[in-house]
Amino acid sequence: MFISSHVKWVGISEEDFTSNSLSVTRKPVQFNSYLIQGKKNYLIDTVPEAYAEKFIENLKSMIDITSLSGLIVLHGEMDHSGAILRLLEEVPHLEIYCTEEGKDSLTGHFHSNFNLNLVKTDEMLEIDEQIKLTFIEMKMLHWPDNMSAYLSPDNILFSSDAFGQYHSKSLIEANESTLLDSARLYYANVFTPFSKMMESYLNHLTYGNYQIDCIAPAHGSIWRNPDIILNAYLKWCHHETTLKIPIFYDSKWAGTKKLAQTIGEGLAKVCNDYEIMIFNIREHPIEDLMYYIAISPGFLIGTPTIHNSYSDQVAAFLWRLKGLRFPSKKIGVFGCHGWTGEGTLQLKLDLSQIGMSVMKETLNVNWQPDSEALKQALQFTQRYWDFLNL
Ligand SMILES: Cc1cc2nc3c(=O)[nH]c(=O)nc-3n(C[C@H](O)[C@H](O)[C@H](O)COP(=O)(O)O)c2cc1C
Repeated sequence: MFISSHVKWVGISEEDFTSNSLSVTRKPVQFNSYLIQGKKNYLIDTVPEAYAEKFIENLKSMIDITSLSGLIVLHGEMDHSGAILRLLEEVPHLEIYCTEEGKDSLTGHFHSNFNLNLVKTDEMLEIDEQIKLTFIEMKMLHWPDNMSAYLSPDNILFSSDAFGQYHSKSLIEANESTLLDSARLYYANVFTPFSKMMESYLNHLTYGNYQIDCIAPAHGSIWRNPDIILNAYLKWCHHETTLKIPIFYDSKWAGTKKLAQTIGEGLAKVCNDYEIMIFNIREHPIEDLMYYIAISPGFLIGTPTIHNSYSDQVAAFLWRLKGLRFPSKKIGVFGCHGWTGEGTLQLKLDLSQIGMSVMKETLNVNWQPDSEALKQALQFTQRYWDFLNL
């Protein structure tokens, strides 16, 4: 696939996938590798090991593979580095360019003696007299070893995981809002904890006066109109939210589910322009749930009491929430119980401990809600809305 006069896409596209086990995916994904051709030929990243054979075959159909001078490893994670050893079988002399931290991740993964060139921000690789690649480190976006590389005169930013998305359709043809949505899902689940660093990286791009005409990430679509995603990232790294309030619940015998529905109906009546969305957390990938948290100012969560605490599914939800280190969200807690009823109290406590702002009052219903309990649920909803104070 043509990217520019000096760059071709040589990755693995969705048709090649039958399954994947990546934690962030909800759909098949595209891994991008790029071939830069000047007087010398360089590769940026590879593909997962499972696709190494196909990757090599494809490369051989495009160039004399032994003419490759170097491989730039923007990130040592296996989805981008997995085909390295297979590539080195073909081109044993290959020079590898990575960061200091990249050395650690590459040797840690492959236990091989690579021909490494360690690079830092602003260092430049001359592909020939005209074509130059400038490196920009991006530590902890999202591993210590990540970097990006800027190609001139083509004005392409090879951005590693930043600005990437998981998307199943032909990415070049996908419409902008689908792409942005997919990129937001990726940001929420990968970059949320590193938003301060993302802000610094975006500033570096701005103040470095890079003229960026195209962003070529390691996953998904290439951005031909980069301002769209650059502006979106500026908002996301400041945790911008939208007009949505999710209600999450787990429920074994549908009592907590009834509460969720009643709260949803009540909230819809008072919440002006906000869209209320109800999720049974067992029916959605956790990454989707985290996405909705990322874009919302607050949420409600319901749990039955199970073995003196909240349910195991809610525990998994909380675990992920904790790991992603969202800024404080305003949370309401509700649920049904039988005889001891610690579920909601424990959940409130644990949410507070991870820095969330939890409404003092919880809604607790004994066994299954009757009409009186549903009335109380509506009153609770009004108080949650007041607590949200939007
Ligand atoms: C395996 C299991 C363990 C439970 N443990 C407790 C408990 O420790 N304390 C309690 O108050 N209720 C306990 N319950 C009762 C539930 O909280 C109660 O049935 C509640 O109404 C279920 O809400 P749901 O309809 O949303 O599933 C337990 C229920 C199950 C199935």
